[in-house]
Amino acid sequence: MIPVKPVIAASAQIPSIEHYRAIYRESVAEPAAFWSEQAQQLTWFHPPHEAMRADIPRGDVAWFAGGKLNAAYNCVDRHAAATPDKVAIIWAGNEPGDYRRITYAELLGEVGRLANVLRAHGVRKGDRVCIYLPMIPEVAFAMLACARIGAVHSVVFAGFSADALRERILDADCRLVITANEGLRGPKSIPLKATVDEAVEGLELVHAVLVARRTETNVSMRTGRDYWLEDQLARHRSAAPIEWMDSEDPLFVLYTSGSTGKPKGVLHTTGGYLVYAAYTHRQVFDLREGDIFFCAADAGWITGHSYIVYGPLANGATTVMFESLPTYPDAGRYWQIVDDLAVTIFYTAPTAIRAVMRAGDEPVHRSSRASLRVLGSVGEPINPEVWTWYHDVVGAGRCAVVDTWWQTETGGILISPLPGATPCKPGSATLPLPGVQPVLVDDEGAELEGNGVSGNLCLAGTWPGQARTILGDHQRFVDTYFARFPGYYFTGDGCRRDEDGYYWITGRVDDVINVAGHRLGTAEIESALVAHAAVAEAAVVGFPHDLKGTGIHAFVIIRAEYDAWPPGELAGALKEQVRRVISPIAAPDRVQIVSALPKTRSGKIMRRILRMVAAGRDDGFGDTSTLADPSVVDELLAARKDHR
Ligand code: WTA
Repeated sequence: MIPVKPVIAASAQIPSIEHYRAIYRESVAEPAAFWSEQAQQLTWFHPPHEAMRADIPRGDVAWFAGGKLNAAYNCVDRHAAATPDKVAIIWAGNEPGDYRRITYAELLGEVGRLANVLRAHGVRKGDRVCIYLPMIPEVAFAMLACARIGAVHSVVFAGFSADALRERILDADCRLVITANEGLRGPKSIPLKATVDEAVEGLELVHAVLVARRTETNVSMRTGRDYWLEDQLARHRSAAPIEWMDSEDPLFVLYTSGSTGKPKGVLHTTGGYLVYAAYTHRQVFDLREGDIFFCAADAGWITGHSYIVYGPLANGATTVMFESLPTYPDAGRYWQIVDDLAVTIFYTAPTAIRAVMRAGDEPVHRSSRASLRVLGSVGEPINPEVWTWYHDVVGAGRCAVVDTWWQTETGGILISPLPGATPCKPGSATLPLPGVQPVLVDDEGAELEGNGVSGNLCLAGTWPGQARTILGDHQRFVDTYFARFPGYYFTGDGCRRDEDGYYWITGRVDDVINVAGHRLGTAEIESALVAHAAVAEAAVVGFPHDLKGTGIHAFVIIRAEYDAWPPGELAGALKEQVRRVISPIAAPDRVQIVSALPKTRSGKIMRRILRMVAAGRDDGFGDTSTLADPSVVDELLAARKDHR
């Protein structure tokens, strides 16, 4: 692979690869000093007395202990005082040309009023609030209002079903839900309030539902529980007292999928997370005065938390929030926004780039994109062809491309090029950021030293943005991340370090699949399928998919009573089942009815075989001697194309 030299002017902070290497060495030699310096970029009500403390095997990490701060104060108040008229958020609505600009002074008022509404509904420090909103400014107002009063927000992606929402409300013990009557995404409207009604039906726990009015559509409102947000806001003033939080007080919980069981509520705390989101946002995107930063993620995922809301706002930057789809009304939408708003930094997922790339270069060439300087990618491996298209066509060969690797649990970007400094290789996330120590280990946990090695990607030590626990289940946190390879945090990803020390993420090594940039547990999808009366057993694997990166292939065994059901209809019903139980994003692309699954004698499904069948590969199945019934493989092979 040919390294692509950075073409943009190097950043003032890290102007060259040599400079990066020097800072890197310093940062890992003296992490406490390095991160304490970064922490000074925030405003502390009371300074920390200790930079960090870590007991990795126990999953016990603390940053900036003794420090007191407030995330909303850092993201809003201090900028409203210094640069009140600077635009904090530019909202790009569903319809082209529909923009709303919110200055830091206005943001302060919006957040304060909503904070007062929450307080009036009895929300106090430490209480959890569920946010189930489309991409409207209220999602940022709500997150920051929670932060202002010390409440812990749990943003649930508005594409999740009522069942999935209910599970998350219950797990986090949320007393209050903030939603909208409807959401708009491209040509569709999404009945969010109706979904919330179904989710909280019979739950005494939830005593208030605040409803933002996104459209004119009326929805049913239950007296004494449901309130229009605008009416509530009108009753309150904008000045709202700040709750000064301990650095280690929780800021938010965000649910993500693991390889087993129900979704995990990943918990992030205040000081470390905010220092890390702000630092990485400045460094990775080479943030400069006057930048217009456009992260096209959804606020329901970590990327939206760290790089639409907390990172950019903590840095006093202008952040763009996009309500619609990359292909609405056509594949030129992103670039139209870039031109309309003079966007300088653009950040999205490979799946979105693939979706617009499919429409060819013409929609790109309709725009000038002259303002662009940095292009980012996140969420899944970016295919070298897609990287090259992004660089050559979208960036016209003059923008830096940063392929950023990180996770919900890491709080912010860990491995990424630095614009202007790091020579890139398309498809590689390149090198760790200062303070980040990737380690590759073999399956036995032995560290693989040197270059030209592949293994399980772990991280040594700690960094401020590291998740602190799984809400309500610290043991699960320890078991998931710190038990498999003692002494390290285990990411769940496979990775290669090439001859130049560059990192290449090779995908998940656990039963998590990454579908269109969305992280899903195969176990969750299997449970949703088995919950259908017709299904006796199900096994789900990923297969290579041109647009989504990974598609979902479900193998199901049907109960005898349902044998007569036409396979096409049955497959449709099962896809619908997953849509209803989890979300449309988790619906299988293919359902294949089988009479048996390949299992070991101890009853474990051999997913390796299913993955090969799903991928249409027949270059040998490796060792199948541990299979309880090897003839199952022949049946699968014979019927491999037989899916709907
Ligand atoms: C994958 C999203 C390759 C990886 C921020 C990781 C990537 C999972 C990249 C986390 C990348 C993320 N290259 N793979 N640049 N970025 N991933 O928690 O498998 O939704 O473990 O966080 O996405 O997904 P999550």
